[in-house]
Amino acid sequence: MKVTKAVIPAAGLGTRMLPATKTVPKEMLPLVDKPVIQYIVEEAVASGIEDILIVTNRAKSAMDDYFDYHPELEHRLEAGGKAREAETSRAVADMANIFYVRQKETKGLGHAIWRAKRFVGDEPFAILLGDDIMYTEQGAPALRQLIDAAEKYECSAIGTREVPDDLIVKYSSLRIEQLEERVFNILDMNEKPTLETKLSNYAIMGRYVLTSSIFDILENTAPGAGGEIQLTDGMRTLLGRERMVAVDFDAKRYDTGNLRGFLEATIDYALRHPDAGEWLRGFILDKAEKLK
Ligand code: G1P
Repeated sequence: MKVTKAVIPAAGLGTRMLPATKTVPKEMLPLVDKPVIQYIVEEAVASGIEDILIVTNRAKSAMDDYFDYHPELEHRLEAGGKAREAETSRAVADMANIFYVRQKETKGLGHAIWRAKRFVGDEPFAILLGDDIMYTEQGAPALRQLIDAAEKYECSAIGTREVPDDLIVKYSSLRIEQLEERVFNILDMNEKPTLETKLSNYAIMGRYVLTSSIFDILENTAPGAGGEIQLTDGMRTLLGRERMVAVDFDAKRYDTGNLRGFLEATIDYALRHPDAGEWLRGFILDKAEKLK
């Protein structure tokens, strides 16, 4: 099994980060000096992905422009002796083959993924949710860890993480049995469980490698939690037909779709930034002293 295609659903309305996301797509909010979506694309590319489909909507054209050349800007930078900056701008457009499709109606994650059917064809493919940024200091990126498990067990693999009760009800839950360190057989799953219906505290977490059988299933999946067509409901049907494993990947996860997660990611990435990290550390220590 070789996974070279990925889908990034980015057609959400971004209601948790208003008013910033009223006219700027939430995927384009800057995390230090790069938009959130760039971290996602970088993880995909570092995991061996060559072709990426971004599922957008009519309010997200800033994303298409971002992954394109900007000749006027780049020529001007070069003429002004700023070749390095011009190269930085161009490199963004050359990271991967990026394709776009629009989700014409906001009908849920399962519906957004279904829009990738023609792009994916018959191959296994990856999904990366745009809100979840996964940081790995060293070792394989989060998605690569999933692809490795999918290749080893020759089946779909989805990311998981143990979360507390207040989060499990906002995400999804899995019933699992351990296969090896960090890898589990999936026995069942549900979306937006209650504390009574949760299957465990292991939630599905932002990264997936799925076989293309999911598309015909999604086409026939009725709306579920929140009145939306849920990917989890489609995957539950897939599980009745094919084996699936879950991978508790080794990475730090940031949920940039909410304010606290976004702030945490901003501070951590700024502290790691080669030009700003040292300065920020001093600034924070000084601030903490004054706040005492
Ligand atoms: C989505 C998925 C859910 C998953 C969560 C975190 O939910 O539907 O299964 O657990 O992301 O990755 P959302 O946060 O879009 O409501």
